[in-house]
Amino acid sequence: MTEQPPIGIQTHIPNIARMYDYFLGGKDNFPADREAAEKALAVIPEIRHSARSNRAFLQRAVGFLAEQGIDQFLDIGAGLPTQDNVHQVAPGARVVYVDNDPTVLVHGRAILGKNERVSIVEGDLRRPKEILDNPDVRAAIDFGRPVAVLLLAIMHFIPDEHGPERIIAEFRSALAPGSYLAMSHVVIDARPEAAEGITQVYDRASSPFVPRTSREVIRLFDGFELVDPGMVNLPEWRPAPGDAVPYRNVGDYFLGGVGLVTGDG
Ligand SMILES: C[S@@+](CC[C@H](N)C(=O)[O-])C[C@H]1O[C@@H](n2cnc3c(N)ncnc32)[C@H](O)[C@@H]1O
Repeated sequence: MTEQPPIGIQTHIPNIARMYDYFLGGKDNFPADREAAEKALAVIPEIRHSARSNRAFLQRAVGFLAEQGIDQFLDIGAGLPTQDNVHQVAPGARVVYVDNDPTVLVHGRAILGKNERVSIVEGDLRRPKEILDNPDVRAAIDFGRPVAVLLLAIMHFIPDEHGPERIIAEFRSALAPGSYLAMSHVVIDARPEAAEGITQVYDRASSPFVPRTSREVIRLFDGFELVDPGMVNLPEWRPAPGDAVPYRNVGDYFLGGVGLVTGDG
């Protein structure tokens, strides 16, 4: 993406979706994104591995959810459509991708083309009700049946003043028993000294980075029943034989987990 950007897309402000694309080795990024991404890599060189580890978690979590019979997915903060997206991992399922970034919406629509089961919707996680009430979301997802909500590598861009617990509680109360929440979140316990450097890089980007500890992140699953092995370092979440090993030992700073809506609370 080095030529004319589509209208409405700002290229001079580092954009978190495009920085992430750069970490994953993609081409959908501009010089400002690459420069900021390199600054982040100077603070934590393992970010590239973590980004890949997060995509691998997405695949394993979606595979697990499909095995549990989930055939509806609401992927919020879906990001640029790289390989192995939810609809590719769970091909029979209905999938709604939600993002608030025009780059993601334009690219997503172009790449997905016409696919009855898959849609891309503009929405902001800070306003969950608008996502839940969106007619395109309602047309695709039957909230009377189990749904999986995916919040992967997005909650660490939602500052406390927007009420992360409230946001998740609003989704939980809209979900039928048997639904799931899958979440991944960067944590700072293992590298507290790096938190400031990373926060500074993202302060100039399209969204701020919010440093949280594992304890704070695990609390976001309150009201869900965490499935084994809980909220853990990404490669340790139900590793598939062979595929997680290269991403081990990258530091304990990116957690992932899946929680069930039981109907008890
Ligand atoms: C790091 S990417 C993660 C992409 C994908 N979920 C994954 O884990 O591979 C974060 C995405 O969240 C989106 N995002 C950030 N804040 C958002 C908000 N308030 N509402 C909706 N999307 C948001 C960004 O535009 C970006 O596409």
